[in-house]
Amino acid sequence: MGFGRTSMKALFNPQQPAAFAFTKENLAKAEAVIKKYPEGFQQSAVMPLLHLAQQQNDNWLPRAAMDYVAEMLGMARVRVYEVATFYTMYNLAPVGTYHVQVCTTTPCWLRGSDKIVEACEDHLGVKLGETTADGKFTLCEVECLGACVNAPMMQVDTKSSSTYYEDLTPENTKKILTDLAVGKEVKAGPQSGRHTSEPAAPVKAANDG
Ligand code: FES
Repeated sequence: MGFGRTSMKALFNPQQPAAFAFTKENLAKAEAVIKKYPEGFQQSAVMPLLHLAQQQNDNWLPRAAMDYVAEMLGMARVRVYEVATFYTMYNLAPVGTYHVQVCTTTPCWLRGSDKIVEACEDHLGVKLGETTADGKFTLCEVECLGACVNAPMMQVDTKSSSTYYEDLTPENTKKILTDLAVGKEVKAGPQSGRHTSEPAAPVKAANDG
């Protein structure tokens, strides 16, 4: 069956588990999410349910989990595949312990995201879309993550967390990756020392001269 210019098969990881089912705990969470939507609109729960399935499956989403969610919400499977393959937050293949996602959209690009990608590639010894041999890091580029005010930035996901690191330079990016590799806690948010998105330099009032 055709799927745009890419075959449906090519979108999915070649190694797939035969089946998927929520754990008892996640099933209760899924049911609670579904109840948030009015009768007849349960399909709106597709995104949080896919996210829950991904968390349960070591941070990637197998096809069996998409089918399971489709069944649970009474949706055509292809509708769920459309959602799962559109958003970069869903990983269609296994990723490393740390999933490093560098934003390369215009505001981050203008503030040097090319250098951040380069620093990651140099430091990790992989290219975009690849995983390090020890399985610790997967590197990829993503579209705007809504933190343009502190550009350039990257998001690093584990199976249970999602953290923004902002005001990146090649140096502080490499330091973050070094610290993560040894399990050291790294401060989230701006790495420049500024608080949230306050001005990067002292502000002058109009009559300061
Ligand atoms: S452009 Fe990078 S966060 Fe918006």
